[in-house]
Amino acid sequence: MKKIEINTTIYEYDSLDELSPDEQMLSKKAIEVVQNAYSPYSNFKVGAAVLLENGEIIVGTNQENAAYPSGLCAERVALFYANSKYPDVPVVALAVTAYTKKHYLETTTPPCGACRQVMLETENRFNKDMKILMVGQKKVSMVPNAKALLPLNFDGNFLK
Ligand code: THU
Repeated sequence: MKKIEINTTIYEYDSLDELSPDEQMLSKKAIEVVQNAYSPYSNFKVGAAVLLENGEIIVGTNQENAAYPSGLCAERVALFYANSKYPDVPVVALAVTAYTKKHYLETTTPPCGACRQVMLETENRFNKDMKILMVGQKKVSMVPNAKALLPLNFDGNFLK
């Protein structure tokens, strides 16, 4: 038997002020857009903002549906739109935040597994790390790439 350990380092900041100007701007876009969420079933609003290598920021919010599985998370709405609009431009960072019961979540929102898988695909597609900022009211958690959120991942290499 062999024990394999995969370590993840998460960087935690006490406020947005500790981030770079680009990261602060991206986080603020996610905070701004969260109110556009369509989430009448969960009442959980999520906002995401992605920064492209060309400097453009694309935002997305969660979009729910009466037929529950037909909805989509904010991160994937933003990423799919970014990749549709600019199929050749790498995504360099993504910020995500959540709002529920009239306030932003104090703690940060870790993206769901399906969104992590899509982040990984985007990262692999452009061969470029995507920094992920999970923005809460009281703290921001950051990982330098999607792989850090998805150890032992499944990717396109298995299909060759
Ligand atoms: N949601 C997101 O938009 N992103 C996540 O990473 C977690 C969950 C949405 C999906 C659904 O509309 C609501 O939050 C409750 O799960």
